[in-house]
Amino acid sequence: MSISDDLHRALATEYEQALADDVTERHRDWLSRHGDWPRWRQAREQLPAVDTCWQLQTGRLVAGADWISPGPLAQLLGEWIPWRKGPLRLGGVDIDTEWRSDLKWARLASHVDLAGERVLDVGAGNAYFGWCMLASGARCVFGCDPTQLFVAQHEVIRHFTGPAANHLIAARLEDLPPALGHFDRVFSMGVLYHRRDHLAHLEDLKARLRPGGGLVLETLILDGPDDRVLVPADRYANMRNVHTLPTLARLQHWLEQAGWESIQCIDRTATSEVEQRRTEWMPFHSLSEALDPDQPGLTREGHPAPLRVIMLARKPG
Ligand SMILES: C[S@@+](CC[C@H](N)C(=O)[O-])C[C@H]1O[C@@H](n2cnc3c(N)ncnc32)[C@H](O)[C@@H]1O
Repeated sequence: MSISDDLHRALATEYEQALADDVTERHRDWLSRHGDWPRWRQAREQLPAVDTCWQLQTGRLVAGADWISPGPLAQLLGEWIPWRKGPLRLGGVDIDTEWRSDLKWARLASHVDLAGERVLDVGAGNAYFGWCMLASGARCVFGCDPTQLFVAQHEVIRHFTGPAANHLIAARLEDLPPALGHFDRVFSMGVLYHRRDHLAHLEDLKARLRPGGGLVLETLILDGPDDRVLVPADRYANMRNVHTLPTLARLQHWLEQAGWESIQCIDRTATSEVEQRRTEWMPFHSLSEALDPDQPGLTREGHPAPLRVIMLARKPG
């Protein structure tokens, strides 16, 4: 069964057949529009037929039995560079991703009980966190992400894990049909600041939950006790698509405005070069190139360096 057939089967099990048909058709269409899709598909067909399995070993996703010739496999896995979220070990090849995403998961894992839950992970990247969620007891995870490369990477990862209840839909949250909802938990990590309309995003997330369902929101903030925002005139930390950074007080206010309850901040961490850095699997600019070399508390543009919070909130019951 292909991975998109498996996505269809999972959607049809959890929802109506018509919704499964619609989402899967749009997913396939969006992937096929990317110019590199034929190259990625061809490379995927060359992946060796390893015994499938997966587990998290101290935060690293270890998938598939070790392949006998790791050199050629590592070269093939290079077709999907840049690898951003992990760490991963696929068929015995260690992929040192740009992000030590396991560190983010470690900061939040003890605060959420996912046992038996149906989870939506918005902006899931290659769906690394979906494996953490399954390992924490989630019944099934649907991620969504519009970046085709990350969906292609997810398919590579699934080649090594074998079938699992961690699915990734190639779509923006806004483009998913409203009927894809009634989730027990929704995660939005690293997405809010990419959205021009932050309130619309916080409302969209709420609309996907059952009454009483929980939100995990991870985002960039500004330091300070006051209620204000930074709207970068151009780039922020080399990123062109960062629209608004609120202080914690303003973020709490936004969540209240969007109708969330039981709002709490469970973590606040400055991003370090231990967590985000250039590696051979992500050889382009990373955090160190985004910071002012003389004043590491500032970005190159002179803004405060990245500081992230994790918020929990509930949809009213
Ligand atoms: C900074 S990455 C965060 C990835 C991961 N959630 C994490 O915390 O490491 C943001 C991701 O959100 C995706 N994204 C951007 N806009 C989106 C939208 N409107 N709906 C869903 N995903 C979106 C991007 O493609 C990207 O993979």
